[in-house]
Amino acid sequence: MYRITVLVSGGGTNLQAIMDAIADGRITDTEIACVISNNRDAYALTRAYDAGIPACVVSRADHPHRDEYDAALTRAVVDTGADLVVLAGFLVKIPPAMIREFKNRIINIHPSLIPSFCGVGFYGLKVHEAALARGVRLTGATVHVVDEDTDTGPILLQKAVEIQPGDTPEVLQRRVMEQAEWKLLPQAIDMLAHGRIEISDEGQVTFL
Ligand code: GAR
Repeated sequence: MYRITVLVSGGGTNLQAIMDAIADGRITDTEIACVISNNRDAYALTRAYDAGIPACVVSRADHPHRDEYDAALTRAVVDTGADLVVLAGFLVKIPPAMIREFKNRIINIHPSLIPSFCGVGFYGLKVHEAALARGVRLTGATVHVVDEDTDTGPILLQKAVEIQPGDTPEVLQRRVMEQAEWKLLPQAIDMLAHGRIEISDEGQVTFL
């Protein structure tokens, strides 16, 4: 079994999409080893508990020094024995030690077509607010490998979504989730689980 550990901070609809895809066979030979949240109030944790998936909280509040927090988070993830770490709405910067430990084995879902509307400060609704403010006609979602900077790692999958007249950030966020995120993230996990995506040390992505 390929083991994935999913890191979450909020509602967990992407976690739900992964759980649903495992249940209905769009992701095979894969189990969620653990769900880890930085936020003990995250609804994503309730989704994990309800599904009987091990879950834990590594909260910044319990670790006053950033180094201590980074070490605790890295240790918690290593202890899950994950083959792949999936950031599903995880809003904490990943410690360099974890990136070294899981080189090319951490992926993130971002709610825009990278390199648009990404980087520090672009997360959640802010991404959709920025896309609407700029007046783009197309946005979408990206699954990428996590490297030491924010949203700069190798791109694995992308899907475009049209912006409609009258869209609010909330309406657009929902459409991007439904049409892109909840499909792309399970697809990427299944492909990685079955060795259908290869990422070289230099970050070159090959589909096999
Ligand atoms: C998702 O839209 C995800 O793409 C985004 O946060 C949301 C989490 O929703 N992630 C980022 O913005 C990362 N930069 P969820 O908790 O319902 O999956």
